[in-house]
Amino acid sequence: MTDILRVAVIGAGRMGADHIKRLSTRIHGAEVAAVVDVDLSRAQAAIAGIDGAVALASADEALNNGDVNAVLIATPGFLHEEILYKALEKDFPILCEKPLTPDAESAWKVVQAETALGHKRIQVGFMRRFDAEYAALGSMIRDRELGELLMLHHQHRNPDTPAGFTNEMLINDSVVHEFDAIRFFTSEEITSVQVRLGKATRNAPNGQHDPQHVLIETESGVLADVEIYVNAKFGYEVATQASFEDGIVSIGGDGGPYVRSAGRWGGKVTPGFEERFGAAYDVEVQAWVDAARRGEIGGPTAWDGYATAACCEAGVEAQKSGEKVAVQLNTKPELYKPEL
Ligand SMILES: NC(=O)c1ccc[n+]([C@@H]2O[C@H](COP(=O)([O-])OP(=O)(O)OC[C@H]3O[C@@H](n4cnc5c(N)ncnc54)[C@H](O)[C@@H]3O)[C@@H](O)[C@H]2O)c1
Repeated sequence: MTDILRVAVIGAGRMGADHIKRLSTRIHGAEVAAVVDVDLSRAQAAIAGIDGAVALASADEALNNGDVNAVLIATPGFLHEEILYKALEKDFPILCEKPLTPDAESAWKVVQAETALGHKRIQVGFMRRFDAEYAALGSMIRDRELGELLMLHHQHRNPDTPAGFTNEMLINDSVVHEFDAIRFFTSEEITSVQVRLGKATRNAPNGQHDPQHVLIETESGVLADVEIYVNAKFGYEVATQASFEDGIVSIGGDGGPYVRSAGRWGGKVTPGFEERFGAAYDVEVQAWVDAARRGEIGGPTAWDGYATAACCEAGVEAQKSGEKVAVQLNTKPELYKPEL
């Protein structure tokens, strides 16, 4: 058992800064030892008030700093691969924000590298598995409380997108979460993806077709659909309705205080993912820390990162062709069995 995790957070942008805050305030058994950002001023701002943390401009410096024994990767996805290999070489526990890597081929190489190491060190940041309502629906499905699960209907709506958010990113950055959620709910792999492009909003930037309707099948024939709508304006919403043989379950609906005032009734719409999934990120990171101190991981594996990358590849091909595209997966290594 490692006494305490001394974490190097690589990337102090939107997600990295959020994780730094939770690691240094709410998470037990871990401390921020180093923050790395190519923009050193961002790393410096992120360590303000954190005793014993250093701000660095390169991941190498952090990994070779004797005070560091764990890594949280929060750089843009295309930069994850290089840091993953270096951290695996050190045999450090790793929490890697999604995506594991941007494509299935590179993700498979990471799976192979971890398999060669012989034990799991990489946990991938699919935080929805740690959301209380997701977990509850997952248990209902696994326990067959309402009979067999037949269909899943997902809504994933964002107020808007950052500059440079491409059409492919609707799949690779957004629907990737539903790919993992569907695999988590069903304990099955996804077999095919189709994307339908209908009437588009005038609010989408050039090159983006928004919204999109993604149709998904799993091994046993569960059908899932995702409305991905990333310029929905009104706020952030991630919700799911599950149809069972003996009932319907909805999660992710409106919550919080219900207010009647000035002749109106209503509540507040969640502005973004930090608020909607704040508690889930806390549970996710705590699970990672607790497991890492035992020499294990506490959540989605590198295999999950690889399998979702394969779904994304099929999804992007389906976006272009309009056809149903089969998801191609290599054989799962023993290291990742039996869990999905
Ligand atoms: N799980 C989730 O809900 C969720 C939500 C948002 C983002 N993410 C993921 O988190 C990761 C980061 O996303 P973000 O929105 O915070 O991006 P961001 O652009 O806000 O932050 C990325 C940071 O990485 C830094 N950086 C770039 N190159 C670097 C390098 N070589 N070394 C060190 N730092 C470098 C940038 O300067 C920036 O500060 C991505 O993988 C993204 O997909 C996950």
